[in-house]
Order: sequence, then C-alpha cells, then structure tokens
Amino acid sequence: MVVGSADNANFEPTEPGSRPSVRNAPGPPSPTGPKSKEAVDLANEELAGLASLLESQGVTVRRPELHDFSAPVRTPDFEVENQYCAVCPRDVMITMGNEIIEATMSRRARYFEYQPYRKLVYEYWNADPRVEWTTAPKPSMADGMYREEFWDWPLEKRHEEMHSFEFCINQDEVVFDAADMSRFGRDILVQESMTTNRAGIHWLKRHLEPRGFRVHPVHFPLDFFPSHIDCTFVPVRPGLILTNPERPLREGEEKMFLDNDWELVDVPQPVLGNDEMPLYCQSSKWLSMNVLSISPTKVICEEQEKPLQDLLDKLGFEVFPIPFRNVFEYGGSPHCAPRGVRREGTREDYFPNLAYQPLI
Ligand code: ARG
Repeated sequence: MVVGSADNANFEPTEPGSRPSVRNAPGPPSPTGPKSKEAVDLANEELAGLASLLESQGVTVRRPELHDFSAPVRTPDFEVENQYCAVCPRDVMITMGNEIIEATMSRRARYFEYQPYRKLVYEYWNADPRVEWTTAPKPSMADGMYREEFWDWPLEKRHEEMHSFEFCINQDEVVFDAADMSRFGRDILVQESMTTNRAGIHWLKRHLEPRGFRVHPVHFPLDFFPSHIDCTFVPVRPGLILTNPERPLREGEEKMFLDNDWELVDVPQPVLGNDEMPLYCQSSKWLSMNVLSISPTKVICEEQEKPLQDLLDKLGFEVFPIPFRNVFEYGGSPHCAPRGVRREGTREDYFPNLAYQPLI
C-alpha cells in the first residue's frame, strides 16, 4: 500500500471546484499557502503510525516522493496559486487487477497530484511486464468546466436539486477522482459527486467493462456536497457494508446488495459533531466511518471513535485503533490516506444475482 505524507502540504486554494472555509467562521478568508511545520509534523507522525501498523500486519508500505506543493500551476486553460498535498493517494489512483489507473482529478490544485507517485508507478511498471498503466484524459479545468454558482445555492435550492446530481462540475468533460470508486471484486461502484461527473462514469464504464468489470453508478441524494465515497458507503468484508445513517442510497440502488445477500449496517453518530471538527478540516464529521479493513477480520479505526469500535467488535472484527485526528485537515482518515496497489487472490464475483446490462 502507498501511505500518504503531509510533507510540503499547502492549504487548498479557493477555485471554481472548491470553496475551502474555516470551520465555524463562514466566508473567507481561509488561509492560503503552506501549512505550518507543527501541523505537518503532527499529521506525519500519525501517518507514520498507520504505516508501521500496516507493516506489522505484513503489508509492504511505500511512501510518495517529495513534491513542491507551494508551486503555482499555470496551464493554457487555468492558473492556480498553489497545490495541495500527497496525504490521500486514494484520491489520485486505483488499481484494477494488473492495471494502475490515474484519475483525471477534478480540482486545479490537484491537477499534478499524480507526480509524487510517478516514481513508484514506474517502478511497478518496470518490474513486471504484466502491469498496465493508464492515465485518464486530463480535463481542461477551464472556467467553463465548472458551475461556480453551485457554491452559493441556498439550502432550498439544494433540496430541489438533490435528485439532479448536478454539482460544481458540469457534464462537458470527463472528470473523476479515484476515491469516488469502491471496488468489490469484479464490480465497481462509482458515486456521482462534486468530484466525479456522469462523463467520468461513462469513461470508466467504457474502459473497464471490456476488461470484465461491471461499473455501477450510485447516488446519495441527501449528501449535498458529495466527494469521495468512503465517508458514506464503506465495504469492510465480503457481505458487509458500513452505511451512513444520514446519507441513504437513492431508492432502488440497494437492490443489488440485498439480492446478493449483502448486509448494510448503519454506523453510530461520530464522536465529534460537525462543529467540533478541526478548524481547517474541509470534510464532514463522517470521517469517523472512514475505516480501513485490512482483512475480513481486521479493521483500523480512529482511536476516539469508541461507538464505532464497539459496533465493529460486535460484528466480529479485531479493531486496531490509531490516533488520526491531525490528518483530518488534509482530507483524510485511515481509509483515505493509503491506497492499496497490490493484493493476492483472484477477482471474485460478489454479485452473482445481478440483472446487468453492460454498456459494451
Ligand atoms: N467528502 C467526505 C465527507 O466529508 C470526505 C471524504 C474523504 N475521503 C477521501 N478519500 N479523501 O464526508
């Protein structure tokens, strides 16, 4: 697994695809530029803890390369004052069998976020001729790709729009972040979100279905700012998915799980409320359920999330609690900060009862 690093991390800049804000202080200014050395050291310590726990469980852990995230980016189509960080490799790439796919990404500050992982990808690619490496088409990220008014929609408008699944990116270009996907053997769920549009899902379908995968779009209408599926719908072992009690699946979409004897279990309320999350954290309180299962019986969970740990324990897991709160402001918890690259075993079919029409 590749475990992220907070080295050289910057605050996410304001851009059409993102409106960072300081928690409980509505409106600008959110800080810009590099994060403080203290904040970086605290996050790195927790990331190192995750890395050594994984190693103690027999996982080979790799880390990203240093990258200058304070450098501005200028392409023919946009300019942005700084980049972000390499804490969440999960957002940037995904492996499907012997293929590594680099996501298009959806935000300007993350356009070049594949760079800290390139040396590793080359290493994998050079080491084994079976490794396939695909980079999805880079979108322009020009102003026209975004719907900037989205950020100012009043709550009533969000309610009205909740079944249209139109967010801050429009449908003109192929856009997806890897963390909107969740892989179940030969089936891939993809969440329509602020970071993945329908064109992105179509690209994934056309690319993956001829390779024997089935791609299923999923929707969570009550999440008004959806981005990355792993605080909403988190598979922890074959047959069991942790679900978010405030973000039910769109009606009808639970069928494929129920028809195949999967159990959906709501997680308890997080220990911290949305107002108590770290000041610069842009994610919701549901980072609580961002747990990492490393085998059908072992799961890594944030240290202070006792109610969730109790549930996991009752469900028969051995729970490994780790401190991770200092990583929250970098967008992640134990599930986001690592990205599995290589596993043993074969591609399972966990959904034998499926009425499914592949696109191709
Ligand atoms: N948008 C999610 C929430 O706030 C956070 C997802 C974090 N996941 C990740 N892979 N970076 O509920």
